[in-house]
Amino acid sequence: MRVMVIGGGGREHAIVKKLKENKSITELYCLPGNGGIARDAVCVPITATDLDGIVSFALEHKIDYAVVAPDDPLALGAVDRLEAIGVDCFGPRKNAAVIEASKAFAKDLMKRYGIPTAQYACFHLLDEALAYLQQASMPIVIKADGLALGKGVIIAQTLPEAEEAVRSMMEQKRFGKSGECVVIEEYLEGPEISVLSFTDGKTVVPMVSSMDHKRAGEGDIGPNTGGMGTVAPNPFYTPAVAKRCMDTIFLPTVRAMAREGRPFKGCLYFGLMLTKDGPKVIEYNCRFGDPETQVVLPLLKTDLFTVMRAVTDERLAECPVEFSGDSAACVIMASKGYPGAYEKGYPITVPAELDAQVFVAGAKEKDGGLITAGGRVLGVTALGKTLPEALDRAYEAVKNVHFDNAYYRRDIGARALAAKEV
Ligand code: AMP
Ligand code: GLY
Repeated sequence: MRVMVIGGGGREHAIVKKLKENKSITELYCLPGNGGIARDAVCVPITATDLDGIVSFALEHKIDYAVVAPDDPLALGAVDRLEAIGVDCFGPRKNAAVIEASKAFAKDLMKRYGIPTAQYACFHLLDEALAYLQQASMPIVIKADGLALGKGVIIAQTLPEAEEAVRSMMEQKRFGKSGECVVIEEYLEGPEISVLSFTDGKTVVPMVSSMDHKRAGEGDIGPNTGGMGTVAPNPFYTPAVAKRCMDTIFLPTVRAMAREGRPFKGCLYFGLMLTKDGPKVIEYNCRFGDPETQVVLPLLKTDLFTVMRAVTDERLAECPVEFSGDSAACVIMASKGYPGAYEKGYPITVPAELDAQVFVAGAKEKDGGLITAGGRVLGVTALGKTLPEALDRAYEAVKNVHFDNAYYRRDIGARALAAKEV
């Protein structure tokens, strides 16, 4: 089988490493990949949003199967284009990827189908949004409707902050077209839980739960990032919470999408908040999370390619999916300054023997070695029988990986550990 993975970050590296375990895959490509992924797959310099380039490559190299990992090619219809030339895909079509690409769509879907989420209103007109804020209670959450690299969410503590947020999106077009429509929603409180799931449009199989650490600084302060680390499983996701999520969120969402004529096939990511009224949806993503994937896939015992194909063929109900009962921790090593400005080009050294897996996100090859080339550079993932064991191993490994100007949070997993003690 000739397989290609679209994307080029740490998440794609984790997917590529897992796919490599399947011996029926004889050729494995990653478009565009990165310097680290190049050690596990053939990287091809075609960007993830260049759909014409991707389609030509697939035809030329007789690709049998494609995994489309990032949100933007999915939202652009990469799967529709590839299916049209006979390539089987893992990932939703454009009409289902909208569950992430439009927050207004997702909110309206949840409202129509009674899926628990924050109260909200959508606005296309600045004056109406501003008028609404006058009678709203603070804090309040302002979201750009479309994709905004995970940065289109502003939590406003005061009315002037909320007004400024709405103006920045609708007047100053800070997120371009993504902010032409804004969702203003109730502020929810509680621990956050990420649940990635496999779904073929009918059956939904949740993967092991995880917890992201989105803020740049220790103690969950500072600007939002793409994610500074993850742990799995998430201790707040107890069996009782899991059952409630399945009954009130997971199955209702998959059924709602099918009923709307938008069957979702691929990885559906539920971003949840465990409020005092039970779990509520904060966001849907139409893809694997980054860096959630870097802790979830290492715990998957079943062959990933087998599960992916069962999703594509709508046979997921017949495909057993098993996760290890161990824990995993991923610490992101970033370039100092991220998510603001940072320097690149520093050589990276990773010892040959390491009690952890290193997933490369922002690095390129130079003179046979790797140099830093992005904000999030590496994800260092370790496993353990318990979460403390996994965290110790991950941090021990991080100490042995070097590049100048490296920054990482030293408190990944702290909140999860505290939860366990309660
Ligand atoms: P999103 O891009 O929708 O995941 O939002 C980014 C982050 O903003 C989430 O992970 C939450 O921490 C926070 N957030 C989003 N919506 C809400 C909400 N309604 N109440 C409180 N926090 C929120
Ligand atoms: N880690 C959050 C995301 O992938 O959107």
